[in-house]
Amino acid sequence: MTITKAQSTPLIAVVGATGVQGGSVIKALSESDKPYRIRGFTRDVTKPAAEALKKRGVELVAVNLVLENKEEVYKAFAGADYAFLVTNYWEHMNSEREVSEGKLLIDAAKAAGVKGIIWSGLVPVKKISGGKYTKVEHFDGKAQVTEYGRASGVPFVDVQAGMYASNLLGNFPLLVKEPDGTFALPWVVRPTTVIPTIDMENDYGLYVRWVLEMPVFPDGLEVYTTSEDISLEDQARQISEGTGKKVVSKQISPEVATQIFVSFGFPPAAAVDVVEGFQFFDEFGYYGGNPSTGAKGLARPTRTFAEFVKNADWSKVLA
Ligand SMILES: NC(=O)c1ccc[n+]([C@@H]2O[C@H](COP(=O)([O-])OP(=O)(O)OC[C@H]3O[C@@H](n4cnc5c(N)ncnc54)[C@H](OP(=O)(O)O)[C@@H]3O)[C@@H](O)[C@H]2O)c1
Repeated sequence: MTITKAQSTPLIAVVGATGVQGGSVIKALSESDKPYRIRGFTRDVTKPAAEALKKRGVELVAVNLVLENKEEVYKAFAGADYAFLVTNYWEHMNSEREVSEGKLLIDAAKAAGVKGIIWSGLVPVKKISGGKYTKVEHFDGKAQVTEYGRASGVPFVDVQAGMYASNLLGNFPLLVKEPDGTFALPWVVRPTTVIPTIDMENDYGLYVRWVLEMPVFPDGLEVYTTSEDISLEDQARQISEGTGKKVVSKQISPEVATQIFVSFGFPPAAAVDVVEGFQFFDEFGYYGGNPSTGAKGLARPTRTFAEFVKNADWSKVLA
């Protein structure tokens, strides 16, 4: 545990500290033998996740990171040496808002004079697909923010998140019960399609720590995170082996997948956004053809998918 209050150590401002990505960053930095001061942002410093961070020595700052609150957002970054920035598209599913809030975070970190920004972006789907897939807003919005950050003049690294392995645990309809009582991964991709799959809580922060601990902040670097690049059929097999429940992979049509997401509660436009995203992964690759960044250089090896299966709570989806 090396979170400190010593003024001589770098102060890292972490957006989304109470969430998956920011939480993973804080976990990885706290496991480093290099000391850090960490400032985490949340709208509610009294929530359990915030209280837990406070106990671990993180400075918690209450701030709503929205355009209407610009002055407070700028103040929140004051004194930071580096900033980890993430936006949460799924909270509002509004691309314009995601882009403007992402730019606001960059402006505020720049005004604070940070020496480097680490941003959680995703690839530009519309551009890479030559205009074939135009509705994957949760990727394209982040790619716009990346462009803005690269032009900001602040050293800027994009650490892209692979597909969360935890998506399988119930927040998306990606592992479902079939009428015959067996379970399936009904995805709009071929079973052989390989997806960079990441145990976010445990492994994403490792990549951010790697960037922060390079001898020179690697301005311009794109990092494509993964715990394991694994096909859908191998995921199904390993979940079966690890849980004892029969799980198969199954390719479904975009139309059926859209219906499944809408029935699950997604607004129709968001369902199309996700489903087109899967079509893109199948045709161009999740990272648009860029290879995943290897684990070489990370503080420890990433977790395998089999380890994720072993440690996860499958009770919600495999009951
Ligand atoms: N699921 C995937 O496979 C996947 C893959 C790649 C990228 N992503 C992206 O990951 C992002 C979500 O990140 P996550 O998983 O870390 O989300 P999360 O676990 O839901 O956490 C969201 C965090 O953002 C903070 N936050 C949201 N709005 C805020 C605001 N207005 N002011 C201050 N803080 C705010 C929340 O803080 P408080 O609630 O405490 O205020 C919380 O800490 C999405 O944009 C998604 O597109 C997901």
